[in-house]
Amino acid sequence: GDSDRMNIAIDGPAGAGKSTVARKVAGQLGYVYIDTGAMYRAVTYTAQRAGVSPEQTARLAELTRSLQIDLRPGDHGQSVYVNGEDVTASIRSREVTLQVSYYAAIESVREVLGTLQRQLAARKGVVMDGRDIGSHVLPDAELKVFLTASVEERAARRYREISDSQSITLRQLESEIAERDRLDEQRAISPLVCASDAVVLDSTGMTIDEVVAAIVKLSRTKLAEA
Ligand code: DC
Repeated sequence: GDSDRMNIAIDGPAGAGKSTVARKVAGQLGYVYIDTGAMYRAVTYTAQRAGVSPEQTARLAELTRSLQIDLRPGDHGQSVYVNGEDVTASIRSREVTLQVSYYAAIESVREVLGTLQRQLAARKGVVMDGRDIGSHVLPDAELKVFLTASVEERAARRYREISDSQSITLRQLESEIAERDRLDEQRAISPLVCASDAVVLDSTGMTIDEVVAAIVKLSRTKLAEA
């Protein structure tokens, strides 16, 4: 029944390992993983392609409402579809990464995606990662984790992921990550913030599997308490 399932919110800054960790936690618990950053990226990619800038708020609102965004489990994590088109690879481009914080700051975009996220979590048993899940989208989530790591470590991890495919220096990555943190923390609507009842986990120097084990353990403790 639903009583033995919970919702888990994992928030934190860019590059803290949220998506890998959240996917693995969901796998171990038999829960559904939902990557909310992918939704903001999907809106950004579609808007860029349609020539709609973040400043064109009315057009952007209309475009966002017209999108059918689907997250489907795939061979290598989650596949993302917009109106039936597979955009999984396109939403990870540098062009999208550099602009997504500006689109994610727009109220109508957050409203539409926040509603979708709440619907997806309504039946419980989800692990949702993002920036505002514990603080805003799912304030009643049974377990909230704020996952962080030093800027240097986050840049180094991302560098190892992307350095073969895209030409960028570690220093450049560090400054881009710091800038995205700043934009996500300082926006007016639902900024990146640690919920007061979240467990803070600093993953600097920890392996992915250590972080996953720590969160699974926290979830079992919460379930036993309930
Ligand atoms: O986790 P990510 O790097 O894929 O997220 C992309 C951007 O989306 C990030 O810069 C901030 C934004 N975002 C957000 O504002 N709220 C969320 N719940 C998730 C992501």
